[in-house]
Amino acid sequence: MTKQRILIQFDTDPQASVFDAVVAVDAGVDHLLQYSNVKPEQVRDLVHGAMYTRGPQDLRSTAIFVGGSNVAHGEQIFAIAQEAMFDPFRVSVMLDCNGSNSTAAAAVLSASRHLTLEGSTALVLAATGPVGQRICRILANEKCKVYVSSRSMERSEETVERLRELGVDTSRLVAISANDEAWVAKSLAESEMVFACGAAGVRLLHGEQLAVASKLKVAIDLNAVPPLGVDGIGLTDKGVERNGRYDYGALGVGGLKMKIHKASVAALFESNGKRLDCQEMLGVGRDILAKEMP
Ligand SMILES: NC(=O)c1ccc[n+]([C@@H]2O[C@H](COP(=O)([O-])OP(=O)(O)OC[C@H]3O[C@@H](n4cnc5c(N)ncnc54)[C@H](OP(=O)(O)O)[C@@H]3O)[C@@H](O)[C@H]2O)c1
Repeated sequence: MTKQRILIQFDTDPQASVFDAVVAVDAGVDHLLQYSNVKPEQVRDLVHGAMYTRGPQDLRSTAIFVGGSNVAHGEQIFAIAQEAMFDPFRVSVMLDCNGSNSTAAAAVLSASRHLTLEGSTALVLAATGPVGQRICRILANEKCKVYVSSRSMERSEETVERLRELGVDTSRLVAISANDEAWVAKSLAESEMVFACGAAGVRLLHGEQLAVASKLKVAIDLNAVPPLGVDGIGLTDKGVERNGRYDYGALGVGGLKMKIHKASVAALFESNGKRLDCQEMLGVGRDILAKEMP
């Protein structure tokens, strides 16, 4: 008899995310076990509790979801959880702290509806946050040239260095400062894609800048809190065509993000030992888009 699906939610916040819990239920999980305020030193024993209770043949029906608002802490928990497992007692594990993986995957896939990623150039504004970093990572893996922008040149450079340490080919990444108007203008003039990944309520791009960016085919703003990140792009825009450019707002990307999140949770139960980080979730998103194609 197939065992019931158990998802174990490791959340680093004092209260485990309600959002992630609801998506888990909608993804078909039978039982959700929530652990809040999870600390790195607690992870090994928690994971062992998941590993040893069901026989190896049934472990595909147990999985772990790592969430919480602090993405760096979540990454640590995700790494420790995997280190704690060994064959044949593995369960699948997924990381989507603050929706950073699913959002980055959805943003890049939204852009990919309108152009070929390989060989294209992108400007990623506020690339230092969890979402921006992941967008840079995916684009680099897709062989795009990427302008990695931050208000601080030092943080831009640190972001590129961090990606290099993660094994990403950073040869096509160019760190720039958002305060350097000449570099922002140059990167906008060269780019086919722009991603605005600033914190909630922060405007990063003005209408005049967008208007003269003649090569732009896609502009994506992920900030859902007014003032929005890109002047002239609406919150619900989903591939809205303006002057030969396709625009997306945060809610326009959000639909695909939700599908990726939900399908990724469901994918955890396809076999044991799956590891779903941003690149794997991009693959989940690609499958969703392929099925939706007419
Ligand atoms: N649509 C969705 O489903 C969805 C899901 C998750 C997140 N989001 C949104 O995606 C965006 C990115 O998320 P995140 O978690 O990566 O964001 P974040 O960590 O809050 O901020 C990203 C970057 O914004 C820049 N920033 C912060 N305050 C700023 C200010 N006052 N002025 C200019 N720049 C500022 C910082 O970059 P520098 O200091 O390096 O310049 C920071 O690293 C957010 O707006 C978030 O709400 C949307």
